[in-house]
Amino acid sequence: MSEQKPPLPQRVYRSAIREPFTGDRRSRLRIVMNNLILHLHPAQVPVRTLRFTYTWGLGGLSALLVVILAVTGAMLEFTYTPTPDGAYNSILAMSTTVFFGELVRNIHHWSANLMIVVAALHLLRVFFTGAFRAPREFNWIIGLVMLLLTVLANFTGYLLPWDQLAYWGITVGSSIISYIPVIGDGLSRLLLGGPEIGAATLLNFYGLHISVIPMALAMLMSFHFWRVRKDGGLSIPRKVNEGALGKEETATTYIDLVRPEFTFAIIMLAAIVIFAMLIPAPLEPLANPDVSPNPAKAPWYFLGIQELLLHYHPLVGTIVIPLLVLIALFALPYADADMESVGIYFRSLRGRWSSLFSAATGVLLTIGYVLLDEYWLDLPGLLPSLPTIISNGLVPLALLLLGLVGYYEFNRRAFKATKCEAVLSVFMLILFGFITLTAIGIWFRGSGMALMWPWEVTIH
Ligand code: HEM
Repeated sequence: MSEQKPPLPQRVYRSAIREPFTGDRRSRLRIVMNNLILHLHPAQVPVRTLRFTYTWGLGGLSALLVVILAVTGAMLEFTYTPTPDGAYNSILAMSTTVFFGELVRNIHHWSANLMIVVAALHLLRVFFTGAFRAPREFNWIIGLVMLLLTVLANFTGYLLPWDQLAYWGITVGSSIISYIPVIGDGLSRLLLGGPEIGAATLLNFYGLHISVIPMALAMLMSFHFWRVRKDGGLSIPRKVNEGALGKEETATTYIDLVRPEFTFAIIMLAAIVIFAMLIPAPLEPLANPDVSPNPAKAPWYFLGIQELLLHYHPLVGTIVIPLLVLIALFALPYADADMESVGIYFRSLRGRWSSLFSAATGVLLTIGYVLLDEYWLDLPGLLPSLPTIISNGLVPLALLLLGLVGYYEFNRRAFKATKCEAVLSVFMLILFGFITLTAIGIWFRGSGMALMWPWEVTIH
């Protein structure tokens, strides 16, 4: 008598997993899934690192956004045509004829913008808790490269709709590259595929956006996760004056970490989808290289730098200052190695107060300087015999650097801050200065890039 065949679903299951379906805890599918999770997390994690208000789920949310962007991006590719004639129409088609096309585009658009904010907040969380110090220095470096790639992915994607916003945003944004001495023009030509934005630029940006950058990001993400494990898991949150860490109480990853992670991911996904259903991604009229909007602004994440351009010589405002900030960020884990405060938000109680003070000072000084420079200060006029690279570039840059050194010393002496607390204060000053510049660029610059109230800002 022939053996009775199991039902079809069980046979399919068996063909894939090479074992009969039993549903018991040791079934191979469960083992495979568990192993997958255990590649990301250890079997047990210290209870204290599970506290949501330590990480705010920001690293995990960045990873979720990468997945959402990859999935929705792949869907958009079915309709998108990377040519000046086809791009705009294919975006229009997404909103009109493609099934759920508009929703997919909206999710992709908003997730991409959120990704910059969330990855930057994750960087801040790591900085504020001192988690960039040994043994995690290199993961900080990897994280920085991932953040730069995220910005580049956004920038290259910005051009793809080929509307007025895209064309002129990228025109302004990419003009920054040509200010780099010696190689600037060549680099700009290489990226744009010619002297100005055209069909070749669209194809270059498309290639970078859909393959080069995502591949690099995927590789670095795997490395980043692997390093978190190799560095002994997350840094452990500590209270002020807690002293050295002893043996930590642990919890089971599966129940206490993976389940909340999964729930958080579902809630965030739902929130993003609902937001994308309510707020459409912008789409302006078709790109017109002959008609520049007034004001012509770079994408929002570059508006802080565009604002610097209004106050400093272009080489200093758009190249030297951003480069100095980047160098400082890359050097940070090797310069600040104070292990006492790892895991403590803002280092100490004094650190908390001086951070607050520095944030407020950063906002006020920046507003003060922007108003001063806009209405009264005229450095090239005051120093007419000097070339503007000196009078409006190196002179204010030297004053700025002196001011930062002075602020560091002021913290050390007036507040008796330790070195790492003083570094934190300077960081907060620069951070809030930059946020203020970006806010001014987004909301307070109108026609001719003149300063005005947000309700007076219009774009013609
Ligand atoms: C761009 C995408 C990024 C993704 C997907 C990502 C993902 C993650 C995840 C899932 C964790 C563990 C959980 C957590 O700390 O929230 C983590 C930890 C970490 N990340 Fe990121 N990250 C990204 C960007 C960055 C950036 C921009 C930096 C800093 C420059 C950074 C530096 C670190 C460090 C040092 C840790 C270990 C933190 C600790 O031990 O407390 N990451 N990252």
